[in-house]
Amino acid sequence: MATAAGGREGFTGGGGGTAAGGGPWARKPARQLVAETGDAGGLRKAVGAVSLTAMGLGAIIGTGIFVIIGEAIGLSGPAIVLSFALAGITCVFSALSYSELASTIPVSGSAYTYSYATLGELVAWIIGWDLILEYGVSVAAIAVGWGGYLQSLLDSVLGVHLPDAISKAPGDGGTFNLPAVVLVLAVAALLCVGVRESARTNTAMVAFKLTVLILFVILGGYALLFHKGGGAGGFSPFATHGFSGVVDAAALIFFAYIGFDAVSTSGEEAEKPQRDLPLAIIGSLVIATIIYIVVAVVTVGLAPPSKLSASTAPLADALKIGGGYGSWAADVLSLGALVAITSVVLTILYGQTRIMFAMTRDGLLPRSYGKLSKRRTPVRITVSFAIGIALLAAFVPLTQIAKLVNIGTLFAFVLVNVGVIVLRRTEPDMERGFRVPFVPWFPLIGIALCIYLMTRLESTTWLRFGVWLVLGLAIYFVYGRTHSRLQRGDREPLVEPARAP
Ligand code: ALA
Repeated sequence: MATAAGGREGFTGGGGGTAAGGGPWARKPARQLVAETGDAGGLRKAVGAVSLTAMGLGAIIGTGIFVIIGEAIGLSGPAIVLSFALAGITCVFSALSYSELASTIPVSGSAYTYSYATLGELVAWIIGWDLILEYGVSVAAIAVGWGGYLQSLLDSVLGVHLPDAISKAPGDGGTFNLPAVVLVLAVAALLCVGVRESARTNTAMVAFKLTVLILFVILGGYALLFHKGGGAGGFSPFATHGFSGVVDAAALIFFAYIGFDAVSTSGEEAEKPQRDLPLAIIGSLVIATIIYIVVAVVTVGLAPPSKLSASTAPLADALKIGGGYGSWAADVLSLGALVAITSVVLTILYGQTRIMFAMTRDGLLPRSYGKLSKRRTPVRITVSFAIGIALLAAFVPLTQIAKLVNIGTLFAFVLVNVGVIVLRRTEPDMERGFRVPFVPWFPLIGIALCIYLMTRLESTTWLRFGVWLVLGLAIYFVYGRTHSRLQRGDREPLVEPARAP
C-alpha cells in the first residue's frame, strides 16, 4: 500500500541497494506490481485461453518456418528435423519459466517486469533494452522475409519482378528493401488506429496460416508418398555437416520459436491469468513445435538442401521442385506466408510497444515518450519504433538480423529462468497459478541450453550484442537511474494503453 512516505517501504534493495531508493539493485516487489496495475482499472480482462493461444501462434509462426528454414537446412541437411527438436526443447524449459512468472505476476512488460521484481532495476533495464532488440529487430527480420514471398507471388501471378535495387538490402545485392518498409509502416498504422480491431484480424490470420501449413503437409506428403513429382529431396545423407551443423542450424532456426513469450505481454488482459497464461504459452509452443517438425520432414523430402538454402521462398519452392503441382500450389503457399508474416509483425510490434510502455511508465525512459493518444495507444512509441525498424529492414540482410534477435532472445530467456529461481526464494508464499517442476533443475537446464545455443552464434553477432548492451547501460546511468519512479518513490496512478490484438 502507498504511504505518506511515498511508498518507499515497499522497495527491496537487494545486493547493495541504498536507502535512497534502493540504487540499481532495487527490486519492485512482485506484490506491489500486481496491486498497482490492479488499481489502474484501464484494461478489460477479456482475453481467454483460446485467444491467448491464438496470440502466441500469431507471434510464433512466420518467417522462421516460411523463410529461414531454407538457410538452416543448408547448415544441417535433412537433420534439420533434429535442429527443430533441439531449439524446441530449449524453448520448452524457458516456456515453463515464463509460465510460472506470468501466472505469478500477470502484469504488462513480460520479462522486463519479471526482472524488475526479481533481479532489480538495473537487470530489468538491461532485459528491457534487450527485449527491444528481440522484438524490435525481429520485426525487421520478419518484414524482410515477407518481401521474399511477395516477390515469389508477384512473379508467379502477375509476371512482375521487382528490381533488386528496391527489393533487397545492400548485403543481398540490392539497395533498399521497399516491401519490408511498407509492411512495417502499414502494420504500425493499424496499431495506432485500431488496436481493438486488430484482435479479430489476428485470429483470422492465424487460422489462415495454420490452414496453409496443413495444406502444405497434405500436398507435399501426398507427393512424397505417391511419388507424384519425383521428390528431388530425401533423407540421406542425413546430417550433411555432422552434429555441429545440426546445432548451428538450431541456433538459427530458434528464430522460428520466438513469440510464445509475447503472450506474457498481455498478462493484464487475461480473464484468468493464473490458468490461461501458462496454457497459452506452453500450448502455442507445443502446437508450433509439432507443426514445424512435420513441415520440416516434408520440406526436406521434397527438395535438396542446396536448392532450399538458396531460396527466399523455400516452402513454395519445395512444392514446385518436388511436388509436381502447378504453380497454384506455390502461390497459395506464398499467400499463406504473407499472411503469416503479417500476423507476426502485428503481434510482436504490439508486444514491443507494450514493453516499452512499461519502461516509460516506470520512468526508465521519458514518460512523455509513452504518452497515449486519444485512442489510448502509445502512438509516439509505435511511430518512432516503426521508423527505426523500417530503416533496419530496408538496409540489413535477413540472416544477420535473425542472429542478432536470437542472441538477444536467448539472453532474455536466461534471465527469466534465473528469475524463477530467485522469486521462489524471495517470495516463496506468493500465489502461483503454475509452478515449474523440479526447481532449480529445470530452470538451470533451460539456462544451460540457452547459453549453449548462444555460443554457436558467431563472434560478430556477440560483438553487435555487446555494443547494444553497453549503449543500454550508458542510457541507464545517464537517464534511467535518476528518473526511475522506483528510485523517486513516485506512486502516481498508472494509465494503460488499449488492449492486445
Ligand atoms: N517466430 C517468429 C517468426 O518465425 C519470430 O517469424
